[in-house]
Amino acid sequence: MDKADIGMIGMEVMGRSLALNIESRGYTVAVFNRTESKTRNFAEGPAKGKNFIPCYELQNFVKSLKSPRKIMLMVKEGAPVDGFIEKLVPLLDRGDLIIDGGNSFFKDTIRRNSELTEKGIFFIGTGVSGGEEGALKGPAIMPGGQPEAYKLVEKIFSDISAKAQDGEPCVTYIGPNGAGHFVKTTHNGIEYGDMQLIGECVWVLKKTGMNAEEIASTMEQWNGGNDILRSYLIEITADSMKEKKKEGEGYLVDVVADITRMKGTGTWTVQSAMELLVPIPTIAAAVFSREMSQDKDLRLQMAKILKTPEGKKLRESKKKLMDIAHDALYIAKISSYAQGFALLQAASKKYGFDLKLGQIAKIWRGGCIIRAQFLDEITKAYEENPELPNLLASPKFSGFVNENLWKLAKFIDIAHRSGVPVLGMASSYDYILQIACPVMVSAQVAAFQRDYFGAHGYFKIGGEGQPEIVKDPEGKIREFHIEWMVDGRPEKEITR
Ligand code: 6PG
Repeated sequence: MDKADIGMIGMEVMGRSLALNIESRGYTVAVFNRTESKTRNFAEGPAKGKNFIPCYELQNFVKSLKSPRKIMLMVKEGAPVDGFIEKLVPLLDRGDLIIDGGNSFFKDTIRRNSELTEKGIFFIGTGVSGGEEGALKGPAIMPGGQPEAYKLVEKIFSDISAKAQDGEPCVTYIGPNGAGHFVKTTHNGIEYGDMQLIGECVWVLKKTGMNAEEIASTMEQWNGGNDILRSYLIEITADSMKEKKKEGEGYLVDVVADITRMKGTGTWTVQSAMELLVPIPTIAAAVFSREMSQDKDLRLQMAKILKTPEGKKLRESKKKLMDIAHDALYIAKISSYAQGFALLQAASKKYGFDLKLGQIAKIWRGGCIIRAQFLDEITKAYEENPELPNLLASPKFSGFVNENLWKLAKFIDIAHRSGVPVLGMASSYDYILQIACPVMVSAQVAAFQRDYFGAHGYFKIGGEGQPEIVKDPEGKIREFHIEWMVDGRPEKEITR
């Protein structure tokens, strides 16, 4: 048999599905797995009669590949990735390419990239989104690494990727180094945010007395036609909520345990945001809510101690509430994406990723978990103005927000009155209030407190109606301190 166009290491569900996808586009794929039986099962099962070269030794696997070799790792992030790289390097030639397609931490990718560059081996860290079905039929792909390395796989990636409604492939060169994995991690953070916001909506709708099926059909409406909420996550929420219990009456969702686990990419998103000083409260709220969900014992215990508002009949009609929930969810989503894109913008600057935000929104339109109608609007917003200071500044979104923000406030109020915690929705709402706030009084107070207890200094603004920071004629911000313990509390200007 001819040599393979690409090699796939890792025969778990994502590796298998991607390998099948690549082969189905006319490529020959060599496959390898640490546990031999997995390769054998694949070879004798779904791969039978197709253009695969199953390999049971790494040396043979490497030998079976066309030069320059392209090897994709679909293994668990962390030590397994390093382990395979270590074993592969002595078997490879300069100019060969290793691709890590797992959900790796971007700083690991940066490290691996520099280690492999020293050895003359190309490295791509790529996000692959879309789960099993996406991997098989067309995922969104977010590759980062050397541009020359990307050239080696551009065609394969383009062939296997999802295609957006306009036929454009959902893959683009993201940027150097860890750019691809950073973007994938942020995608996952946004995914957490979306899931949280949808979950909060379902909870409030449930408080109106709607059952799972009724909520599902509301979500189906929201996913119909050109609805602004139309998205994969809304679609699967609707579809899954209709599922009946396998035994007895009722819906399965009502007996699913209220525990959301996580593998960690959402947490990385929040950690990165912390490091970059970018507020992403909705995504953080989603991570915190998953954490709270996991402490079931504590919640059962505390539920017996604290009295929270509960079970009050909602005053609003179902119809009115559905309209409010729909627009509230959309605004909360805009806010959450604005946070996610702000994070991308900051990371691009700090790590030299040179991210094209419009391109990223564009490839997220299909294949990935957050694929949605709405990403078309984000693409257009960045095409119109790539220098947007924040997504919420785009007239595409600010108009809707200005007109309907009250609905998000109302939604949060209704939720709180009926005892539904809406950490995600409230964070989205408050993010909008904060970002559009010329003077944050809470920050004035805290700045002053810091000066009082720690002589940390404070800046000043012009005064009432003059929110700008006071600067000297050279444009340098002026800094002050009050000697709080001295009689008369004199104010001094600090020069550093
Ligand atoms: C995707 C998903 C995928 C996976 C998440 C689940 O883009 O296809 O995001 O990467 O389903 O890792 O993440 P949690 O376990 O953290 O929810």
